[in-house]
Amino acid sequence: MTPRSFLLTRELADYVRANSEPPDDVAADLLAETAALADRGDVPPTFQIAPEQGTFMQLLTRALGVRRAIEIGTFTGYSALCVARGLPEDGSLLCLDTSEEWTAVARRYWARAGLADRIGLRLGDAHESLRALPVEPTFDLAFVDADKAGYADYVDQLHPRMTDGGVVLLDNTLRNGRVLDPRNDDDRALVELNAALATDPRWETVLLPLSDGLTMLRRR
Ligand SMILES: C[S@@+](CC[C@H](N)C(=O)[O-])C[C@H]1O[C@@H](n2cnc3c(N)ncnc32)[C@H](O)[C@@H]1O
Repeated sequence: MTPRSFLLTRELADYVRANSEPPDDVAADLLAETAALADRGDVPPTFQIAPEQGTFMQLLTRALGVRRAIEIGTFTGYSALCVARGLPEDGSLLCLDTSEEWTAVARRYWARAGLADRIGLRLGDAHESLRALPVEPTFDLAFVDADKAGYADYVDQLHPRMTDGGVVLLDNTLRNGRVLDPRNDDDRALVELNAALATDPRWETVLLPLSDGLTMLRRR
């Protein structure tokens, strides 16, 4: 099953998708293959972003004129495909993930979309990969969708690496609604981070009720 926001009924989710730009064949096949893997229990069912979020991220990448982007948490590559599609021909996206198996699926689809030369993949713990990058303004856009307890560190590490006015997107910041009733350490980590970011002078912050909550930070 394709991921759906907990905020939408199935009918409303279908309506939202029917009234947004539809995924092309490559994106549709990637969504279908990941859904089939999830149905078989081979991958977690809630990992992939919803299609309307992918369409939004592609549009946002293009609208902001992003040239260099970074993604933390790539999985089978759908969100990366969307961001890469919003980049100009000489743009680049650096993806960080630990899983060789899941990102092998991603590589297949990036190649099929003709985007392989725009996307770099670094396997390993993303906290370490990020820390190893030069501490200088590099990225116009960052998408964070990995270990939830690590988000605060990712935000801190990203700040000096973002260009002026650069945008960081944090996924799952509503935790399926559990921010109102946190049940585990990941929920509590995001409740704490959401509250801190609302008044953090380093960023302009908005928590959008898109999909599972998408927080948008603009570096001041
Ligand atoms: C929710 S999935 C990403 C989904 C992806 N953005 C998409 O839309 O298809 C989270 C990913 O983060 C990766 N991950 C989790 N902890 C990590 C870490 N410490 N370093 C690097 N990757 C990590 C997992 O391997 C997984 O592929």
